[in-house]
Amino acid sequence: MSINIKASGAAAADWQGDGLAIAIFEQTEVNLPDHLQSLDQTALGGTLQELITEARFKGEANSSVQARIGGQAAIRKVILIGLGKPEQLSLETWRKAAAAATKWATHQRCATLAIDFPLNQDLEAIGAIAEGILLTSHKDERFKSKASQPEPQINLTDITLLGCAPEIAAPSLTLANQVVSGVILARELVSAPANLVTPSTLAETASAIAAEYGERFSVKILEQQDCEQLGMGAFLGVSQASDLLPKFIHLTYHPRETPQHKIAIVGKGLTFDSGGLNIKAGAGSSIELMKIDMAGSAATLGAAKVIGQIQPPGIEVHFIVAACENMISAKAMHPGDILTASNGKTIEVNNTDAEGRLTLADALVYADQLQLDAIVDLATLTGACIVALGESIGGLWSTNGEFAQAICQAAAKAGEKIWQMPLEDSYMDQLKSVVADYKNTGSRSGGAITGALFLKQFVANTPAWAHLDIAGPVWSDKENSYHNPGGTGYPVRTLVNLITTFRQ
Ligand code: BES
Ligand code: MN
Ligand code: ZN
Repeated sequence: MSINIKASGAAAADWQGDGLAIAIFEQTEVNLPDHLQSLDQTALGGTLQELITEARFKGEANSSVQARIGGQAAIRKVILIGLGKPEQLSLETWRKAAAAATKWATHQRCATLAIDFPLNQDLEAIGAIAEGILLTSHKDERFKSKASQPEPQINLTDITLLGCAPEIAAPSLTLANQVVSGVILARELVSAPANLVTPSTLAETASAIAAEYGERFSVKILEQQDCEQLGMGAFLGVSQASDLLPKFIHLTYHPRETPQHKIAIVGKGLTFDSGGLNIKAGAGSSIELMKIDMAGSAATLGAAKVIGQIQPPGIEVHFIVAACENMISAKAMHPGDILTASNGKTIEVNNTDAEGRLTLADALVYADQLQLDAIVDLATLTGACIVALGESIGGLWSTNGEFAQAICQAAAKAGEKIWQMPLEDSYMDQLKSVVADYKNTGSRSGGAITGALFLKQFVANTPAWAHLDIAGPVWSDKENSYHNPGGTGYPVRTLVNLITTFRQ
């Protein structure tokens, strides 16, 4: 059930429907703006003022008070939502407030909702509100035999942003819908199990995006033999025990004009990570969650879907995924095997569970040959990154300070948390091998850093490279500000911001 968001220049007094959500900045004594005072006195019988006084509502962040309006009122239910202090206002404030309004209205079984927020025609704020609404109302019930809502089903179908001229709001609403469609694609790819999302599924998804947005995309799917010819021994070593064939995906967005900049997004695409012969065994190994090990590729394809709709000028974007499964069979890599990557470097696989970096090695070498300005890779690379930063923050490593800063800014705007970590060169000692050029793992301590250092060895020509370890934030068992449990769609919105503002 999709929600239609529209803007209306009308005020709350002229609106009729099920729910009205009003947002208020924090004040020592809440003073309603004039238009709400008169609404309160006429249509709402003084309910707003009673709520404020009785609940001592101050408009603090994450606070709210609500009431049912009796009789034949034009509006049946109201909620006052606190925005917190105006000096702490960010786009995230709007997303959270909009999500709170949407959840409330859904819970209250409203079919229609009006939003009266102090927006002042701020286009980014309008977009953030639409994002908050759309992101929170996506609930993935594809694999449930029946919907969770009690009968009779009442769906929230229409949300009106009041005091907001439609022609001013339209571009922001369109953009929010486009962005959220990519986030939802990423969420659904991550949440679907490994028996339904395979390397072929990822390849088909890339081809479908290319087909849908027509002439602006080209797509190349390299089959196993193609990868053999390119000498992608590291990628193929990981894939070799699976019954499913690997797919190397290269989707390219071509802007209408000659590109001024070229960038690649490289996503880890392990549709399942059993660990290989270093099997994920025992409590805490989370083998049953390892369908999420393609979240980097899900975000890559999610971003591609958005870019196909926005069609940003002047930038060429390469979306690259080396997709496969890390399985066990008699054909499996032995711990200790030596693989040769496509740049000729040899790798001693001292741990078959450090497989993501092996697939990324060949994907990075491939991207590095495309003469790009920048490469960013996204990978559910290490449990160590979750230990370091917890479940809601991604780790960032980069060889280029300006690029790192651009990524941090893109993430801040998206409200997706990220923290820069060091590329500590001296830890490279841990990856020295007696027999080969590198080992694929170092010691337990600093495991997210040695993972990043390993990847860095496979980028030689591209002036800016960044690695995002997203093992924590791509999945959540709990409901959050504006996503339901499951795949979160992290960091699609950061990627879109990064691409659309690259060197501008
Ligand atoms: N896919 C895992 C990392 C992971 C862990 C993702 C938890 C999401 C949640 C990765 O392939 C892996 O197994 N990493 C090892 C690296 C180690 C062997 C150096 C890890 O983190 O234990
Ligand atoms: Mn692994
Ligand atoms: Zn993995």
